[in-house]
Amino acid sequence: MRAWTPLRLRALKGVRKFATVTCYDATSAALIEACGEEAFPLVLVGDSLGMVMQGNDSPLPVTMDEMVYHVRCVARVLRHPILLADMPFGSYQVNDDEGFRNAVRLIQEGGADAVKIEGGERCVPLIRRLVQAGIPVCGHLGLTPQSCLAMGGFKVQGRDERSATRLLDEARMLQDAGCFTMVAEGVPTSLGAAMAKTLDIPVIGIGAGPETDGQILVWQDLLGLNTGRVAKFVRRFGNLGEAACAALTAYADAVADGTYPALTESYS
Ligand code: KIV
Repeated sequence: MRAWTPLRLRALKGVRKFATVTCYDATSAALIEACGEEAFPLVLVGDSLGMVMQGNDSPLPVTMDEMVYHVRCVARVLRHPILLADMPFGSYQVNDDEGFRNAVRLIQEGGADAVKIEGGERCVPLIRRLVQAGIPVCGHLGLTPQSCLAMGGFKVQGRDERSATRLLDEARMLQDAGCFTMVAEGVPTSLGAAMAKTLDIPVIGIGAGPETDGQILVWQDLLGLNTGRVAKFVRRFGNLGEAACAALTAYADAVADGTYPALTESYS
């Protein structure tokens, strides 16, 4: 059991805001651990790995086997935060039996503590079933990247009153179905705030403004490891991409000019 639990996370609601982050490998998980127990109550092995780890332009190609692999890499090292694993595209849409079995795989084979499912009302029966079986579930509403084909890209959702009202209704449904938390992605600040105010469970925002209970950012985005354009909501809290390039170039130069390895770095 990890130190943070869904109950402990829920108790943060209204007490303090919290940061969460994505993570896909053991080295990164060790860095998160080094930040101390209070820094990150929850870590997500997101299907965003399809983009930042695999180089795809969406999370759609990510398979269950790939998710289990990355969850296991993180699970071996993570001791304190809740390890939340994404249910990838196609792993829960065929029917609820298959969705149930795949959630169990992420827990049993991957070592996850909870699963995240994208979608509102249509996911309620599966969420109820998982929660009844003792699997903590995180909902995900708004810009749901697995629906990028239907949405015509990665677009902010809930801009008009009708769709905002619908998303707020669905947020209540997810809470009633037993979700211990939910992600609100790519929604106007007013809707992110309304979700956090309306629900008793913590709402974790990404591109949902400053008034949600928590925030989540993708590892590569927040550390500045991505070289391309990033979404408006991303703040680069570091510039590790530049630092990595400088180190790589220094290494290449040192090999080229014969200063690496030195004798002290060689065996007698
Ligand atoms: O896959 C992911 O990383 C996510 C977060 C961006 C919320 O779903």
